[in-house]
Amino acid sequence: MDSILVRGNGPLSGQIPIAGAKNACLALMPATLLSEEPLTLTNAPRLSDIRTMTQLLASLGAEVTALQDGKVLATSCHGEITPVADYDIVRKMRASNLVLGPLLARLGHAVVSLPGGCAIGARPMDIHIDALSALGAEIELKDGYLHATTRGGLKGATHQMRFASVGATENFLMAAVLAKGSSVLKNAAREPEIVDLARCLRAMGAEIEGEGTSEITIQGVDRLHGATHPVVTDRIELGTYMLAPAICGGEVECLGGRIALVESFCEKLDAAGVAVEETERGLKVRRKNGRIRAVDVVTEPFPGFPTDLQAQMMALLCTAEGTSVLEERIFENRFMHAPELMRMGAKIEVQGGHATVHGVESLKGARVMATDLRASVSLILAGLAAEGETVVSRVYHLDRGYERVEDKLRAVGAQIERVRDE
Ligand code: EPZ
Repeated sequence: MDSILVRGNGPLSGQIPIAGAKNACLALMPATLLSEEPLTLTNAPRLSDIRTMTQLLASLGAEVTALQDGKVLATSCHGEITPVADYDIVRKMRASNLVLGPLLARLGHAVVSLPGGCAIGARPMDIHIDALSALGAEIELKDGYLHATTRGGLKGATHQMRFASVGATENFLMAAVLAKGSSVLKNAAREPEIVDLARCLRAMGAEIEGEGTSEITIQGVDRLHGATHPVVTDRIELGTYMLAPAICGGEVECLGGRIALVESFCEKLDAAGVAVEETERGLKVRRKNGRIRAVDVVTEPFPGFPTDLQAQMMALLCTAEGTSVLEERIFENRFMHAPELMRMGAKIEVQGGHATVHGVESLKGARVMATDLRASVSLILAGLAAEGETVVSRVYHLDRGYERVEDKLRAVGAQIERVRDE
């Protein structure tokens, strides 16, 4: 297992290109199951999660090729589509559950393994099941697999979700676009990745309105055609790299970034003493003056503060002036980066869904361990400004969601390298 070695090296400067969104791409790729014509995605990130989704779709009978230039070519028209998403793949990546809606829409049945829990929480599927059942799916759990069938095909319906689940919204959209009649999804998730999926489905011939609001209307159509669709910029990678100059000092321009993707995050950065300027090419970020100030953070569904940036924000607040309280409202166990940051000298008290961070002057490099995707990158951010050397182990977590993180940070002056373990 590789490790990443980081040494505090003073202020950063330069440009970091932001890739296409992992969490958009993982919803867009299964959409190929909805049409017998090719779907081409451009600006797709090169990540291990994308390779896992490629494997999963191939196991269903789709042909997916991820090219080096960020194009993903997907077709599901040659040969039989087998509707079984196997546990061995699904357990590696929860987003595998996003084939459930498209398989039901295409074939009228699906057998998808429950993903099982992951480091940050139990990750149940009840909201997905309720949403697809509203469209006429009959879903039962047998031997750890969801067995879903529809008698006579999916029928449009109005459904209110108990919580604005991102994945359940995506599964509902990809099922409703081929259902008979019209559907209305209430309390829908509003994330930019939902908007991106709706735009791609519309390019394929779907009739969808209201994406980005909490009420989405879909008029079912008989069939969808192929399309070419550019994957939206990754707002979580964007927010992550915006924190690098905030933590180290200097100025970095994140190419492709737009304020609209990270509005609530920018409000918190502003309160903490970080200036963000929108340029033609992206977002320029630097500290306003002096030390970062403590701020409180509550994670919420979009447009609230993103849970996927909570760990990275904590890394910034470890050396802020004053005490910050971070409340994690989306996942039940998403503070595993805290004990690792404490090995670096951070002063953090975790109590259930709250983490209280008492700012210290500076952190000290240490050997730390990545536990999940966003925790791993928060440790790298902390290491960028810590005195001495930090070694982050188990960086396979990192490679799921960040393309060439060491190259991107080295290009703006960080002292960082990947150490391949024997
Ligand atoms: C998506 O996960 C993202 N993943 C997550 O990013 C992100 O943290 C999350 O949305 C919230 O923004 C992808 O898009 C691939 P949810 P998803 O359904 O769809 C509970 C990353 O780091 N819930 O909105 O799984 C669930 O347990 C990843 O890139 C149910 O209880 O998120 C969680 O506590 C991590 N029942 C909360 O809702 C359900 O049926 C939010 O889940 C579904 C979800």
